[in-house]
Amino acid sequence: MAENTEKRARHVAIIMDGNGRWAKRRMLPRAMGHKRGVEALREVVRGCRDLGLECLTLYAFSSENWKREEEEVDDLMNLMRKFIKSDLPEFIANDVKLKIIGDWQGLAPDIVEMLEDALEQTSKGTQTVAVALNYGSQQEITRAATKAAAAGDVTEASIAAHLDTADLPPLDLLIRTSGEVRLSNFLLWQSAYAEMLFVDTLWPDFTVEHLKQALDNFAGRERRFGGR
Ligand code: IPE
Ligand code: IPE
Ligand code: MG
Repeated sequence: MAENTEKRARHVAIIMDGNGRWAKRRMLPRAMGHKRGVEALREVVRGCRDLGLECLTLYAFSSENWKREEEEVDDLMNLMRKFIKSDLPEFIANDVKLKIIGDWQGLAPDIVEMLEDALEQTSKGTQTVAVALNYGSQQEITRAATKAAAAGDVTEASIAAHLDTADLPPLDLLIRTSGEVRLSNFLLWQSAYAEMLFVDTLWPDFTVEHLKQALDNFAGRERRFGGR
């Protein structure tokens, strides 16, 4: 397994949770929480340019989030459409390389088309922002293992090479906002030796400052990877 033995994180992933509770506390509709969540995401992507990260992976919509009410799912899909339209030029200008993980081809055809275009237009970027859409880690591992088996090579290396994250640096730090302490089917394989940080901040309140603090916290940890 590839290991990053430096103190500086190369790859950070965030489970952006707590939009609904942020809205509820303000007696606002959940949709408002998601809207503010997109604003937080935009600021974090902007700010992480200066933090020297090679890759930021963001959990935006899980394969289990389809269980939510149709209205909420529609709101989330519309926010996705709006965000790609409004922020693609900035991604390109800032050298961001967009990557999508998960079963994103299963989203609405117009979104798939927008994403294909965005991937193409950002392909020359240097800093990767990977967005997990219609993503479930167990499904991803199952897909990868199926491909590995079809190639007659069911090894750890071959499964890893078929994961959606195959071309990303090893995961260093996984952050979840909102106080929940669980992975909710996110990057289960990739987290094997990742550091974990669970913060109480609700996602719409999360800022680059919080991300900086998380990176400082990471730099102070001793990683062992099973060694001594
Ligand atoms: C995270 O916020 C956004 C998505 C899962 C799409 P939630 O909507 O899960 O917010 P809470 O957990 O209900 O507060
Ligand atoms: C995980 O959050 C998915 C995203 C943040 C996109 P959920 O809110 O869906 O997770 P559970 O249901 O609380 O475990
Ligand atoms: Mg949640």
